[in-house]
Amino acid sequence: MKGKHIVLGISGGIAAYKAAYLLRLFMKAGAEVQVVMTPNGREFITPATLAALSGRPVVSEFFAANTGEWHSHVDLGLWADVMVVAPATACTIGKMVTGVADNMLVTTYLSAKEKVMVAPAMDLDMWAHPSTQRNVAILRADGVEIIEPGSGELASHLVGKGRMAEPEEIFRAVKKYFDRSRDLEGKSVLVTAGPTYENIDPVRFVGNWSSGKMGLALAEALAARGAEVKLVAGPMAKSEAIPGVERIDVVSAREMLDACLNVWNGCDAGIMAAAVADYAPVNAAQSKIKREGVDEITLTLRRNPDIAATLGCIKGDRMLVGFALETENGVENASGKLERKNLDMIVLNSLSDPEAGFCKDTNKITIITREEAPRCYPAKSKREVADDIVDAMTALWEGK
Ligand code: CTP
Repeated sequence: MKGKHIVLGISGGIAAYKAAYLLRLFMKAGAEVQVVMTPNGREFITPATLAALSGRPVVSEFFAANTGEWHSHVDLGLWADVMVVAPATACTIGKMVTGVADNMLVTTYLSAKEKVMVAPAMDLDMWAHPSTQRNVAILRADGVEIIEPGSGELASHLVGKGRMAEPEEIFRAVKKYFDRSRDLEGKSVLVTAGPTYENIDPVRFVGNWSSGKMGLALAEALAARGAEVKLVAGPMAKSEAIPGVERIDVVSAREMLDACLNVWNGCDAGIMAAAVADYAPVNAAQSKIKREGVDEITLTLRRNPDIAATLGCIKGDRMLVGFALETENGVENASGKLERKNLDMIVLNSLSDPEAGFCKDTNKITIITREEAPRCYPAKSKREVADDIVDAMTALWEGK
């Protein structure tokens, strides 16, 4: 953590006193910490304590009252390697979700370019309220990491879930984030993403609902950790170019297979996140099929090549990760695919899960390997899920 820039956002909850311990942990680990407080945060812990511990004046107002000097949230947002909001009250979480930028903490959040982590702290009823749960889910989908509150006695003396995670736990989450940054430098990873479209004629196709969001999140997560990524993408929305990601656009399963075979030799690993169409029309018509006088039409479909299995056959000691989308007997079916396609790991998601599936911003996965019992993860943003998958993959890599 040495030399890392951390913005520590403190909002107005009783757990604010614990932020001083967290700040000490960051400072001891060699980080530079800038504290940003909401006006209510200052009611719970004094800026003097935090300024003394961090060695920097605390920022809380847009302007310094005596000099009129402007505190630039943009500069702070750019300076931060990570922004940690601890404690995050229900109010601050709500403002982050909706962009109500009426204080320095929320304006800094809106300007932050790197990772943001939030440690909620509130009473059990506030935490359980649908409004808070909805807001937390939106933050997750926006890519913010939520450090879950714990259960125990709360400031109200009620007992339940809502107390801020302990400073040591928040510190560990931030350390884990820094530890994994750039750990894949020098590795090249192939990612397939999105659906494939199989032409019926020049205007119609057989396809599926995949949005490609999971594959894009994986490409982003891998590139953020220093990997060189080859993203073979089926038809999906154009996203902004991601540094470190070379995107190869394809349409059909055959094109996807060819593109993968072209790059597979130079890769150290592959993650098959595409929803490849299993079948394609045998003979796509060269011109538009007209409906005049045609009451019924029969399409003959032929099985497409299995890209994951093809790469699995020739993978040698490279790592290959697949996905399985199942509606029933998830673990059993996914384990079968792991064997049949010669994968090292398979990520199971279920269509019957409300937080998983096509076009969603969240996903809920179970990771299956040969080495360990299936591991279930809670619902998270696809970006966080991508980090979990890459973590599991690197752990497997290190064990081999
Ligand atoms: N896959 C692939 N090529 C195909 C079909 C699937 O590369 N033609 C990959 C997917 O990208 C995924 C894994 O294989 O990583 C499993 O895909 P899935 O659709 O769940 O399984 P299928 O083998 O198609 O079996 P089924 O549709 O019968 O469940």
